[in-house]
Amino acid sequence: MARKTFIAGNWKMYTGSAEAVKLAEAIDAGMMRTDVRVAVFPPFPWLTVVAEALGQSDIAVGGQDCHAEKEGAFTGSVSPTMLLAADCTYVILGHSERRHGLHETDALLNEKLKSALAAGLQVIFCIGELLAEREANRTEAVLDTQLSAGLAGLTAERMNNVTIAYEPVWAIGTGKVATTEQAQAAHAFVRAKIGKLFGEIAAAAVLIQYGGSVKPDNAAALLAQPDIDGALVGGASLKADQFLAIIAAAPR
Ligand code: PGA
Repeated sequence: MARKTFIAGNWKMYTGSAEAVKLAEAIDAGMMRTDVRVAVFPPFPWLTVVAEALGQSDIAVGGQDCHAEKEGAFTGSVSPTMLLAADCTYVILGHSERRHGLHETDALLNEKLKSALAAGLQVIFCIGELLAEREANRTEAVLDTQLSAGLAGLTAERMNNVTIAYEPVWAIGTGKVATTEQAQAAHAFVRAKIGKLFGEIAAAAVLIQYGGSVKPDNAAALLAQPDIDGALVGGASLKADQFLAIIAAAPR
């Protein structure tokens, strides 16, 4: 089954309002590939202006996180339904800057994931090992746990709305990209694990993005790997020309 390449731009806590709109417009104007799925993830306050700027464009918008509850006394949090109301199609969950930076656990992420999917969002679910874990040969064990615990209770049908982003933590924002062999091996492991959890059809269909210092000069080699179906791009997604070059690097 041919999987459509999916390139996502995680803007993190960067851009001002006008800059976010300009960036979205520049990406939209330069998009030459209708065969590639593209989404951008601006900071919460700019979601609606970016969604408005993108109008009828095929480029989707998503939030960088959400809470598991619909509403409540959760200062500073945003619910899945609020993201939908702000014209989001997607949400990123489990990014390492939240798992490790903000101590989000597998159990919490599982709650968020179930709730976001039930609300109707599509989810980019991030997993990945720390440098110390890779050096201790624990990469597969870490990915195994993050997938078993994170995806617990989901059905194969629900998995249709989940993209996995494999992001080795040591490669995020460091300029240290995983080798294509390291990335492909991890992706093959993830796909096999999805097969064990949800069956072969789900494994063949699931999109697995690579993330961690993806740039125009390394994107083509990564995206050419059989189990790499896209990229979750941080730094390079803040420059329209670089993000467009990564989109253009998708295999045809
Ligand atoms: P980076 O970020 O491309 O800047 O390494 C990737 C990510 O955090 O998703």
